Amino acid sequence: MEHLVKETQAGHARVVAKDHATLCEAVVGDVLDLSKKKIKEKGQFVMALSGGETPKGVYSLMAMPGTCGRFEWDKIHFFWGDERCVPPSDPRSNYGMVRRTLLEKIKMPEANVHFIRTQGTDPGISASLYEREMLLFFKLNAGEVPCFDLVLLGLGRDGHVASLFPESPALCETKRLATHTSLKATQEARITLTLPVINRAQAIFFLASGLEKAQTVRRILETKGEDCLPANRVRPSGGNLRWYLDRQAASGLKSAGVGE
Ligand code: 6PG
Repeated sequence: MEHLVKETQAGHARVVAKDHATLCEAVVGDVLDLSKKKIKEKGQFVMALSGGETPKGVYSLMAMPGTCGRFEWDKIHFFWGDERCVPPSDPRSNYGMVRRTLLEKIKMPEANVHFIRTQGTDPGISASLYEREMLLFFKLNAGEVPCFDLVLLGLGRDGHVASLFPESPALCETKRLATHTSLKATQEARITLTLPVINRAQAIFFLASGLEKAQTVRRILETKGEDCLPANRVRPSGGNLRWYLDRQAASGLKSAGVGE
């Protein structure tokens, strides 16, 4: 598995893989290692999954016979970084995508699958229900912020993360753990984790693949954050941030370290 690990200016690790498949292998290997470490430390591993196309290869690889047996699924809990307000059967559903690519192929207790309930529910209520699920699971009082062991994030071409879109009021949310937004182009309602929760994570894995992300990756990794892209707002307070790029997504970067 060939990939290069470089440091970014902010001291975060940058993994550059030769292609998307190798990127997914690198992510799965690091998720496995982190899950083992956390399960050894505290008996469980809690991660928030990303939607979209990029992480599909990660979930499929986790489900492969040679890999899935290495995860202790009964000690792993899945949450979601965001969800589209559609039924799980809808091809746009992030929960539906993970169920089809991973959950149907592994033995994870249903109680460990904390998906965002959107079916037939007002987005505001969905967000509140999801907040309550996080508070209950993490045994927190209202006003406290859950600390995920890992948050997986994809990157939109416009620099959005989860369903935090540029200029969205949700970017300024400092109290709520989850809120509802909408995709401008289609007015599609979304539920998303807020920045306080994302930035509280112990580890954040940022995934970007393909030439269409190269310019956005450069704007985020090689400008001093002048751009107030949502992705620039991802600054984990105590945890670490690792970028997983394939060569195409990294092709706009001036600094060396683009995988061969
Ligand atoms: C979603 C994701 C979203 C995604 C980016 C990148 O629900 O779509 O949470 O933030 O990660 O839009 O999507 P691709 O991986 O499909 O490029």
